[in-house]
Amino acid sequence: MLASEIRARFLAYFEKNGHAIRPSSSLVPADDPTLLFTNAGMVQFKKVFLGMEDPPEGKRRATTSQKCVRAGGKHNDLEQVGHTARHHTFFEMLGNFSFGDYFKRDAIRFAWEFVTEELKIPREHLRVTVFHEDDEARQLWKEVASVPESRIYGLGAKDNFWQMADTGPCGPCTEIYVDLARMAPDWAFPADASGEWTDTSLDEYSLDAFVEGAEAGRFLEIWNLVFMQFDRQADGTLVPLPKPSVDTGAGLERIAAVLQGVTNNFHTDLFRPLIARVEEVVGIGYPYRPGVGLGKAVGKDGREIDPASFRVLADHARAVGFLLADGVFPSNDGRGYVLRRILRRAVRHAWLLGRREPTLVHVVDVLIDTMRDLYPELHVRRKHILETTRAEEERFLATIDAGMSRFDELAPEASTQGSSRMRGSIAGEDAFRLYDTFGFPIDLTELMARERGYLVDISGFEQALRAQRRQSQEERKAKQITVSADDFGDVTQWTHAEQHAAGLGKFVGYDVVEVDTMVAAVRQLPDGRVAVMLSESPFYAESGGQVSDQGTITGEGWSVAVNEVRKVDGRIAAIGGPTGPIAFGRAHAAVPRDRRKDTERNHTATHLLHAALRKVLGEHVHQAGSLVAPDRLRFDFTHHGPVTAEQLAAIEANVNAGVWASAPVNTKEEAYTAAVARGAMALFGEKYGDLVRVVEIPSLSVELCGGTHVRNTAEIGLVRLVSEGGVAAGVRRIEAVTGPRAFQFLADRERALLHVASRLKVPMSGMTPALDQIERKLEALLEERKHLEKRLDDAMRGGASGGGLAQQLAASAIDAGGTRFVAARVDVPDVKALQALGDAVREAMGTGVALLGAAFADGKGALLAVSTDDARERGHRADVVVREVAAAVGGRGGGKPHMAQAGVDPDRVDDAIAASAGIVGALPVAG
Ligand code: ALA
Repeated sequence: MLASEIRARFLAYFEKNGHAIRPSSSLVPADDPTLLFTNAGMVQFKKVFLGMEDPPEGKRRATTSQKCVRAGGKHNDLEQVGHTARHHTFFEMLGNFSFGDYFKRDAIRFAWEFVTEELKIPREHLRVTVFHEDDEARQLWKEVASVPESRIYGLGAKDNFWQMADTGPCGPCTEIYVDLARMAPDWAFPADASGEWTDTSLDEYSLDAFVEGAEAGRFLEIWNLVFMQFDRQADGTLVPLPKPSVDTGAGLERIAAVLQGVTNNFHTDLFRPLIARVEEVVGIGYPYRPGVGLGKAVGKDGREIDPASFRVLADHARAVGFLLADGVFPSNDGRGYVLRRILRRAVRHAWLLGRREPTLVHVVDVLIDTMRDLYPELHVRRKHILETTRAEEERFLATIDAGMSRFDELAPEASTQGSSRMRGSIAGEDAFRLYDTFGFPIDLTELMARERGYLVDISGFEQALRAQRRQSQEERKAKQITVSADDFGDVTQWTHAEQHAAGLGKFVGYDVVEVDTMVAAVRQLPDGRVAVMLSESPFYAESGGQVSDQGTITGEGWSVAVNEVRKVDGRIAAIGGPTGPIAFGRAHAAVPRDRRKDTERNHTATHLLHAALRKVLGEHVHQAGSLVAPDRLRFDFTHHGPVTAEQLAAIEANVNAGVWASAPVNTKEEAYTAAVARGAMALFGEKYGDLVRVVEIPSLSVELCGGTHVRNTAEIGLVRLVSEGGVAAGVRRIEAVTGPRAFQFLADRERALLHVASRLKVPMSGMTPALDQIERKLEALLEERKHLEKRLDDAMRGGASGGGLAQQLAASAIDAGGTRFVAARVDVPDVKALQALGDAVREAMGTGVALLGAAFADGKGALLAVSTDDARERGHRADVVVREVAAAVGGRGGGKPHMAQAGVDPDRVDDAIAASAGIVGALPVAG
């Protein structure tokens, strides 16, 4: 059975049993700081399990096929991937969920029915595990599924108690296992395996044999049913959930392996096309024969290579493609860093297969083709995904290239080939520096070293790595903020008013910026501030790039200067320093109108900018980050290559056309599917409910957005782009100002221009200087300067008449140690003129040495020495002369043997000149 059919059947089966089919959520969990990536089907329902959100579509049963990434964070398998039969960075989890509806009995009944009747896996090849204290589950397997006691194994918390992360919903679980030795024709026991678990003549296996067989992969877990009962707190305690629930997860890749009769997930139809592309690109065959198994892979040079590299590329193409599709970008921290590591690991394995150019990009290409129907985001962002993958591969290959010269120093290539003896070793510190500075993964260093006959001190490397980790941990600790997200999350920590109005912490700021309301809950924070929840709040909490409001809350005899706003379980909490004791009861809350208005201008302008970028640059442009503050807006977007000045002008013109169109800005709530269907821009990494807020500027822009906006684009007044540049591979950033600030920006520039005009004595035409006159004046000045420079030059060289300054100076030569010597203080504006004069003097002298001194208009003093060829040969080198003379007055200098200069105190230029003849005369002379 093909994977696509398994997926479809799963969803259809649960739909038939009253479950709502829900789309996979993004790999980037929506506002969940505890989690790096979506790592299970239940992640999008976390708040539903906790009783903080209503179930989707109002149904207490749901089913999904969820995109998951487990790399970085709690479930970190990265280095294993490719070497085992079923570790993946990206995988799909099929799941069914009960939100306080059915519990253990039905969860077991559904799973058993699906596995045995829909998938038709023979019962005799199935076994189950339960949490060893969960007698109820054990009993239900016997009762509901007729699984004999001998095939139900009780295991400890490590295997049969599931939790998403260190905190959050969790509970005991039960798992279904398949006997691969019976299901997969290519199953082979490891060569050195022995004992009960390898005896295929048995029908029943002891607990120990089962555990051993499970570890070795013979008994394969295909489905995990979690009985969600608790919410684990940061301190480890288990708080019962409002209603016991069910969360299940079945790995699609594993089930596909079972139903396709293969031991290794990578040999299912989900991976075969990807591996085939790797074969094609690297020109080496992957040595798997269906029904037979894996043979040896041989590289182009006839050497045996590890076929794991093929699987790594196939696996990583999936994670990279899907992460890029969900808006993650390669970077040096957080999610982007994990993506970068995955990508680089792929480059490394392509390198092992002999590739020195981008490879993964070709595999990602096939991934998009094979999965695009199910996950349209791959198709929509195809160009971006491929360009970013290629750019990142190229960048890493260039890094390796750059580090190669350092590597060559550490492990020089043998001048003669053929010696198989080890020629030396690379110290751990050096290997670490290659890793730290050039991004050389240790195994790449090791491999390259081995090729050249060197060993690497791995334990020294690890020691250096540990030392660095320790240091960065300490730095992180030192930076830790005083109030963490957890401090707020816990609603029980708040003191609530005895009675309060219904709408606790309700945001009313779309309509008003001031409100008379009630204090509903208060919390003292460890940093001395207080957090206040009002019945109704005008304070916007940072979201969708728009920064939080600031303002004040005033009550009887107290007030709070609000400098931070947070959402706590969907409710608004305003935080700030208090004056006077906060009392429950009436309060007045206000956000300064101007500040809010400025922010709104920038937010609506951001929507116009987003639309203009797509119009001018193309549909591949997607929002990659945004900041909407009162004083400016910043917009990051996906685009490869530079944005030209003409394009920027077109974008700015387009945005302002939208402003001057005086278009209304309409907001309304709408069904998510309907909004997206009519082209609303949904952002990656955002989580949307069934009902979304849509901000529409008719015929200009439609976006899903929770922010505050102007009512009509004309209120923006004016938009001015102030900067544009690249921030990461494939991501660019524009900053802009609007309204009064745009005006201010332009007025400041004009003032600067006015200043220039008045210095140039350009007349005003009305209130502004005549621009054409400024240009004309400037041209004239530049022309004049050129002319003067030439005249100065001529004057110094003596021009055609021969009576110039250079000639005069040359004529003043005296004898110093047998060499003609000129020393003089001259009046020139700058170093350039001094050098020109020096050249001219040397020419005029024909033979000898000259030392010129000057004090420039900028307050600096300088000495310049020149020396003719013959003088130089005799030992009167200009650099020596200038160094010695400068030293006599506390200066320093140097240069070429024929011309050199020194900086000196301007007040001592004369002293230097006076001393120079004596110094030059005393210099040792050659021959
Ligand atoms: N959430 C459970 C798991 O990931 C089903 O295994």
